[in-house]
Amino acid sequence: MEPVKIGLLGLGTVGGGSVTVLTRNAHEIARRAGRGIRITHAAARQYEPERIEGIEQIDRISDDAFAVVDDPEVDIVIELIGGYSPARELVLKAIENGKHVVTANKALIALHGNAIFAAAQAKGVMVAFEAAVAGGIPIIKAVREGLAANRIEWIAGIINGTGNFILSEMRDKGREFADVLAEAQRLGYAEADPTFDVEGTDAAHKLTILGSLAFGIPLQFDKTFTEGISRIEPQDVAFAAELGYRIKHLGITRRAADGIEMRVHPTLIPHRRLIANVDGVMNAVLVKGDAVGPTLYYGAGAGALPTASAVVADVVDVVRALTTDPTNRVPHLAFQPDELTDTPVLPIAAVETAYYLRITALDRPGVMASIAGILSEEGISIEAIKQKEPAAGEMTVPLILLTHRVREAAMDRAIARIQASDGVSGEVVRLRMETLDG
Ligand code: HSE
Repeated sequence: MEPVKIGLLGLGTVGGGSVTVLTRNAHEIARRAGRGIRITHAAARQYEPERIEGIEQIDRISDDAFAVVDDPEVDIVIELIGGYSPARELVLKAIENGKHVVTANKALIALHGNAIFAAAQAKGVMVAFEAAVAGGIPIIKAVREGLAANRIEWIAGIINGTGNFILSEMRDKGREFADVLAEAQRLGYAEADPTFDVEGTDAAHKLTILGSLAFGIPLQFDKTFTEGISRIEPQDVAFAAELGYRIKHLGITRRAADGIEMRVHPTLIPHRRLIANVDGVMNAVLVKGDAVGPTLYYGAGAGALPTASAVVADVVDVVRALTTDPTNRVPHLAFQPDELTDTPVLPIAAVETAYYLRITALDRPGVMASIAGILSEEGISIEAIKQKEPAAGEMTVPLILLTHRVREAAMDRAIARIQASDGVSGEVVRLRMETLDG
């Protein structure tokens, strides 16, 4: 049988890695797919041919991406340009031309996935996006297929390698934020705009996708709450450790009584949890299903070959399904398109979680009692309190409080009142806390 012909958009870190994997493992891949797979046409604005193993296999390379999606020979387009535009126009054009698409573009899927999937469904083509979430970890396959028997209860994941690398290096080696970020950029992990990593946008793109797959709702990136790691202070990392917790930048989606939670924020988690020990650029996703219980998926969330592993696995999946009836294929968002629900995504004020608070208080009688009074009036129960010694010559002390679960709106009210009260100076630091138990 003729090999399947691929049009490749982008020859950067992941594009180059995909060429290498398709070349290096060509024989194994053909044995799995049932056909050979050849990149016949590629487009890239700039690339370094000497750094891409297998590049000589590609028949034609130009800088015209639209020529690739319009090439009548091409069966499957792999989009590895990233960003919203022109990736969106290219993917929609490829679909219009009847081509299947494989993409690693989480921003594109999170923001425009609903329209892209509708167009693909109308045309009877597949859009595969395993590499869009957690790089090399087959988490989309796991949630969409492996856990299809379950009512998913929640997902919590470390889904940005750069952010995890920064937090790990700062904690373990006391390195500077900017220095670690520069290293992540050199290694090809960081986004083109690194604020996407540090402020949680990249994780929010991925969480949006996971939330839809888990709960059968349309993609709603604009409703995902996002808070980054740039304001984490070394003293909070140290206090958390003293109390038996680690701070991880988590994406959390949960089925609550009145809607779906979708939130990315720094989170204290017990240090004994496996996921608390996922360090460096590695990713891990914890999925709780009602039948299976908690399951954990771990691996490289970024980098050339790990991400290429997911891209090429998608190509194999598409090749295997080329001759299937489109209505019998795995639905893009795990649930049949007419079975997606309008269950609301909850605003952060309606989310319930536990909290770590660091309050800068004057070291004098009555301050603690007044803070405890405010918390009690807002219905917030204290789980632990720690007061540090004042530093030499200082009149204030850091007061650390852990609370039981409460709605964020009540915590917002309490924090506003504490900040306005006598004996408290500056802003209250608030970090959310999750036990992540089964
Ligand atoms: N910038 C992303 C990360 C790359 O650091 O995880 C993979 O999506």
